[in-house]
Amino acid sequence: MKISIVGTGYVGLVSGTCFAETGITVTCVDLDKKKIDGLNNGIIPIYEPGLENMVNKNVSKKRLFFTTEIKESLKDCEAVFIAVGTPPDEDGSADLKYVLSVAKEIGRYINNYMVIVTKSTVPIGTAKKVKAEIKKELEKRNLNIPFDVASNPEFLKEGDAINDFLKPDRIVVGIESDRAKKLLKKLYKSFLLNGHPILFMDVPSAELTKYTANSMLATKISFMNDIANLCEIVGADINNVRRGIGSDSRIGNKFIYAGVGYGGSCFPKDVKALIKTADENSYSLRILKSVEDVNDDQKFVLFSKIKKHFNGNLKGKKFTIWGLAFKPNTDDMREAPSIVIINELLNAGAKVVAYDPVAINEAKRKLGDKIEYSEDQYESLIDTDALLVVTEWSEFRVLKFKLLEKLMNEKLIFDGRNIYEKEEMKENNFTYYSIGRK
Ligand SMILES: NC(=O)c1ccc[n+]([C@@H]2O[C@H](COP(=O)([O-])OP(=O)(O)OC[C@H]3O[C@@H](n4cnc5c(N)ncnc54)[C@H](O)[C@@H]3O)[C@@H](O)[C@H]2O)c1
Repeated sequence: MKISIVGTGYVGLVSGTCFAETGITVTCVDLDKKKIDGLNNGIIPIYEPGLENMVNKNVSKKRLFFTTEIKESLKDCEAVFIAVGTPPDEDGSADLKYVLSVAKEIGRYINNYMVIVTKSTVPIGTAKKVKAEIKKELEKRNLNIPFDVASNPEFLKEGDAINDFLKPDRIVVGIESDRAKKLLKKLYKSFLLNGHPILFMDVPSAELTKYTANSMLATKISFMNDIANLCEIVGADINNVRRGIGSDSRIGNKFIYAGVGYGGSCFPKDVKALIKTADENSYSLRILKSVEDVNDDQKFVLFSKIKKHFNGNLKGKKFTIWGLAFKPNTDDMREAPSIVIINELLNAGAKVVAYDPVAINEAKRKLGDKIEYSEDQYESLIDTDALLVVTEWSEFRVLKFKLLEKLMNEKLIFDGRNIYEKEEMKENNFTYYSIGRK
């Protein structure tokens, strides 16, 4: 069985590698020549635990290939997955230009029946547009090659992407024909052996499922952040409240941690796009609009605490940030709260030194020499006026207090992820600020 994946980013590379792992021959395509040349030389463009070994293994078994040529990749292919980016347009809607340009290319080169599957997160109606684009190109070629379109949104999360792909909670497939259904069932067979369901449905429902899932998770986060802010006012502790509600099985204990707001390449843009879809259909998603507002404000909460502590005077102060990626186990900094916090500190005249276990190179690309970077977690604290924890990497969890005391100008910690206990801070005489706790 041979498939092609167009777009070799977080989703395309992980999906392609995991399909290859099951014995399918996969060609990953990308426009980015540097990325493809790198992959053909064993250089993995992203940090994702376990990915490098799996890519190398499948390349050496001649099941996984990388190319910039979509035409070549479509030869004898049974399915082609579109996994290119769908960034927000200026008005917040998903920009489909990459998806539709891939559809056009497919129409130009398709020579046998295949299923064209959108794996990118795309708004309702996209499968129809993909179909129309392919048809248009086939008409230009005076050909009537049969094909099907399907929607197969991806639910993997960065940092645990391989695990999520190999052992999915569910696979959602929007489908229009039995032929396509049979093919997708065959493709995903290996991932379903442990009873994980494949849910077939109509295409618009599949497209909407992905946005609804991400928006629901974003809602949980913003709701808890809102309650955390109330906790501070009324003297409650959000960690206790979280434990109290999380043990209710109807609520569950995931995605209810207070912090400095959600970021990443998915939640912010998907929330925006769903709001836009509803607006375009004359319906206002009121809850989701508030989710976005709360999140925008939450990214400033840590900075406000810092400003208040220093009576508004941050000029010349030095701050150390631990954690730049939008969450642990990834180097992805798209929409990361760290960027907002750093920019606020710089605007206030402060200096910033940053440490992250894997995102330093990405940070250099995004922030350049506006800040200093440290290769060592503890060296980053030399002569600093405060430590800010912005991403909850596990290596930050246990602190060497004696060393901290020696290195830092002030025994002061702003914890944007609530990873420390208030008691341990008190025992070590540190001034400690966190989110939603006194
Ligand atoms: N990153 C995630 O955790 C995640 C999870 C689920 C779904 N998604 C969705 O999957 C899609 C892809 O996200 P990503 O994070 O992998 O993006 P990404 O930016 O990491 O990768 C996209 C890749 O597509 C390539 N590309 C663009 N146009 C192309 C074309 N015409 N031909 C070939 N390649 C082309 C780009 O060069 C890039 O390498 C998005 O719609 C996203 O919302 C992402």
